[in-house]
Amino acid sequence: MNGYLRVPDPGDGLRLHLNENTAGCSPRVLDALRRLAATDISFYPDYAAAGRATADHLGVPESRLLLLNGLDEGLHLASFAMLRDVEGAPAEAVIVEPAFDMYAACATAAGGRVVTVAPRADFSFPADETLAALTGRTRLVFLTNPNNPTGQPIAREDIGRIADAAPRALVLVDEAYAEFSGETMIEGGGLDRHPNVVVGRTFAKAHGLAALRAGALVGREATLEPIRRLAPPYNLNVCAATALVAALADDERLRWYGDQVLRSKALLYAACDRLGLAYWPSAANFVLVRAGDRAGALVEGLARRHIFIRDRTAEPGCAGCVRITTGVVEHTEACIAAMEAVL
Ligand SMILES: Cc1ncc(COP(=O)(O)O)c(C=O)c1O
Repeated sequence: MNGYLRVPDPGDGLRLHLNENTAGCSPRVLDALRRLAATDISFYPDYAAAGRATADHLGVPESRLLLLNGLDEGLHLASFAMLRDVEGAPAEAVIVEPAFDMYAACATAAGGRVVTVAPRADFSFPADETLAALTGRTRLVFLTNPNNPTGQPIAREDIGRIADAAPRALVLVDEAYAEFSGETMIEGGGLDRHPNVVVGRTFAKAHGLAALRAGALVGREATLEPIRRLAPPYNLNVCAATALVAALADDERLRWYGDQVLRSKALLYAACDRLGLAYWPSAANFVLVRAGDRAGALVEGLARRHIFIRDRTAEPGCAGCVRITTGVVEHTEACIAAMEAVL
């Protein structure tokens, strides 16, 4: 297993291949960055304001929050915290496919053994199959709600059943796209009912801070403790910490972008219906579309028009599939026009 391979930069054009916010970050973020003083850069960063703002935004006490240099850092730290040998043999990490590539890369780098759960044909969450994959060696379970690349949600009860069945494992519920689904284990006492659950969040997607790298893990104090111990003391740089406070204060922008995503998804579903393409209604800011044997031509034809979507045909269960970011309506309309021209 290789480490995570960065997706090559496609060059200038419309980036609909990485689930990014193509509207850009809140203007308040740029204003806050411009106000940084020379000593804000020369001193080690302070996270007091960022910690308060993030905890407040997520509705948790700061003691249950670990700020991250992007959620990727949290996946990495959790893997190294959990995947030590069990009685001289590798500990196991359970990954439900198709999954974000970083899970397997981090678990393998930490010395763990990856146990995969195959997808169902309709991409509904394979709860019983995941339960069947748990063993006495399972120490980490990655669940993505809603999933990337399928956009499919996981029922709260299924997360609870898995967490309860694996009390010695950490169940990392990756909620990178939770702003779009509105579902989170943080609310409704999920963390207290299932103490081995830790929730991962990113501010790269809905809040548009991907290049600054800002994320968080949320969990009960004792559950987070082994992960917190591995985190470097200054993991976020001052720009990320400053941007986080400004971005979280701009609720209006978040609501606007959420509305754009809903409208974009409706437009793309209608276009797929017209073009005879199957798709899975998504709870995230992207849609998985099955173009079948037209997938390659679609990706290449759009790229020639400087519109980049992600070929997912090699992912488990995803033969003939492409993933398209559905954010800013104007960008979705440009993509749909190009799709119609290519197909
Ligand atoms: C499911 C999932 N988790 C985590 C991440 C990484 O988030 P970050 O950019 O904060 O490292 C992504 C980014 O695409 C993702 O899709």
